[in-house]
Amino acid sequence: RRVAVLYGGRSAEHEVSLLSASNVVKAIDTSKYEVVPIAITRTGQWLLAALDGGGLPETVPATGPEVSLLPGGKGRLLVIPASGAPHEIPPVDVVFPVLHGLCGEDGSVQGLAEVADIAYVGCGILGSATAMDKDVAKRLLKQAGLPVARGVTLQFGETAGFDDITRELGSPVFVKPARQGSSVGVGKAATAEAFEAAVKEAFRHDRKVIVEEFVQAREIEFGVLEGSDGSLTVSVPGEIAPAASHGFYTYDAKYIDADGAALSIPANLPASVREQLQDMAGLAFRALGCEGMARVDFFLRPDMSAVVNEVNTIPGFTNISMYPKTLGASGIPYPDLVDRLIQHALD
Ligand code: DAL
Ligand code: MG
Repeated sequence: RRVAVLYGGRSAEHEVSLLSASNVVKAIDTSKYEVVPIAITRTGQWLLAALDGGGLPETVPATGPEVSLLPGGKGRLLVIPASGAPHEIPPVDVVFPVLHGLCGEDGSVQGLAEVADIAYVGCGILGSATAMDKDVAKRLLKQAGLPVARGVTLQFGETAGFDDITRELGSPVFVKPARQGSSVGVGKAATAEAFEAAVKEAFRHDRKVIVEEFVQAREIEFGVLEGSDGSLTVSVPGEIAPAASHGFYTYDAKYIDADGAALSIPANLPASVREQLQDMAGLAFRALGCEGMARVDFFLRPDMSAVVNEVNTIPGFTNISMYPKTLGASGIPYPDLVDRLIQHALD
């Protein structure tokens, strides 16, 4: 079987994708699957890449033979070299998008795979698109009876007075682009000036921004894995404690600063709270129409009340990422996890 691994991509999480994909490729059982690496440049070109000693090269090449999935082609791949004639290479059986953020995690690549009539790992178009949009996701989660942080949505061109916002949400507030990952463009604001700057920054990343109450809480995350029979495995809880110097779990705390955050797996929680959150993680997965995999992130207040913060449909697979770690701690080692994900797509 041939697995096309898509990595890189146009989103702000291009680099995170490289780290994730490198681990995924390492974990793929080469006696069962042949990896066809497809590097997506920052400008969105698909290039046929080559493995380097069995692993992915550290960066996406600047140029190379372009490759595309043919519509209706059931995995047929067309290669257009810089010189010479376009030609086909053997088709792939399944696509594994290891892409975070826009044009990868948001339903667009999933739509492309649908059009190409090829199986792909993870959520479909709807689940990907709803989870990516924090505004839409919150509405669906709320409707399913799940608690979410209070918030206000701003469309591009809309402004909000800081006084009105804090009257409703308290202070400080979080300002987030509606569709982004890895905390890119996210700011915390406790003054009118900081709020204005945070809104401006968030609008650089999206035409829709959400302003949320600041929830003083622990960050607890669960990996959810759907089996081929439709059953859900919800992992043990993982906890992230960002270093105080970062204030919250920022991009730098995640990927740049080696001591940016401390992870504990399993998180130390009373059994009743753990079970309640696990149930909520499964409900959130279903409420957003997820398939295959997702990581569900919570804020847990000192009084043990929780809110669903967000659902990530292509969670990080980096060395510090919670998705493979929490499922690993639940008895599903990395290679097994990757195998199950591919198998789910093929079934
Ligand atoms: N968006 C990053 C990759 C995550 O959720 O892990
Ligand atoms: Mg995210």
